[in-house]
Amino acid sequence: MTQDELKNEVAKAALKYVVPETIIGVGTGSTANFFIDQLATIKSSVKGTVASSIETANRLKNHGIDVFDLNEVSEISVYIDGADESDHHLNLIKGGGGALTREKIVAAVSKQFVCIADDSKLVDVLGQFPLPIEVIPMATNYVKREIIKSIGGNPVLREEFTTDNGNLILDIHGLTIDSPKTLEGQLNNIVGVVTNGLFANRGADILLLSTQNGVNMVKP
Ligand code: 5RP
Repeated sequence: MTQDELKNEVAKAALKYVVPETIIGVGTGSTANFFIDQLATIKSSVKGTVASSIETANRLKNHGIDVFDLNEVSEISVYIDGADESDHHLNLIKGGGGALTREKIVAAVSKQFVCIADDSKLVDVLGQFPLPIEVIPMATNYVKREIIKSIGGNPVLREEFTTDNGNLILDIHGLTIDSPKTLEGQLNNIVGVVTNGLFANRGADILLLSTQNGVNMVKP
């Protein structure tokens, strides 16, 4: 199977976790896009969705799936989204598509977080994928200096990219993330950081991992 076929298989498997008659959260990225296309096949079974990005909202609407503003919603049954890396405890790096802040908000509100990925995303230690940090534009160089001084790694400004929230992204290269929960907190404490792409304090509850031999379910 190609990587796209693996993504489509895991997207299909995630339909089992969609709770009928509820509002579900939908992530961003190529795997999430496969999920949206699968969700369209059962769209009448859900009350609607909350999207983690403008791109996802547009794709959902194009399929005729209702998209709610999060402020209109008090409960999300399940959040389904991809990841850039997952360790075996289901701590994640997300934000390759730059939607990390909205993704983190939707994940926080959701009762269950089901991460969908192909098996290239499972790693022993997070950090080979550059860790995205969303920053307020005026704070970019200050945040860069603080990261170099107190965290390490090499923060690089993502070229020609603005988030849905009007901010910038620094990608930190060269990290070996042994304590994801601690690092998530440390980064969020730097003034000017909106949030970072570590999903450790609220990691995934279930990882559906697509392999050449089928989709495996991983729990922390
Ligand atoms: C977007 C994300 C995505 O979930 C992550 O980048 C994985 O994307 P893909 O499914 O295309 O590999 O965090 O901000």
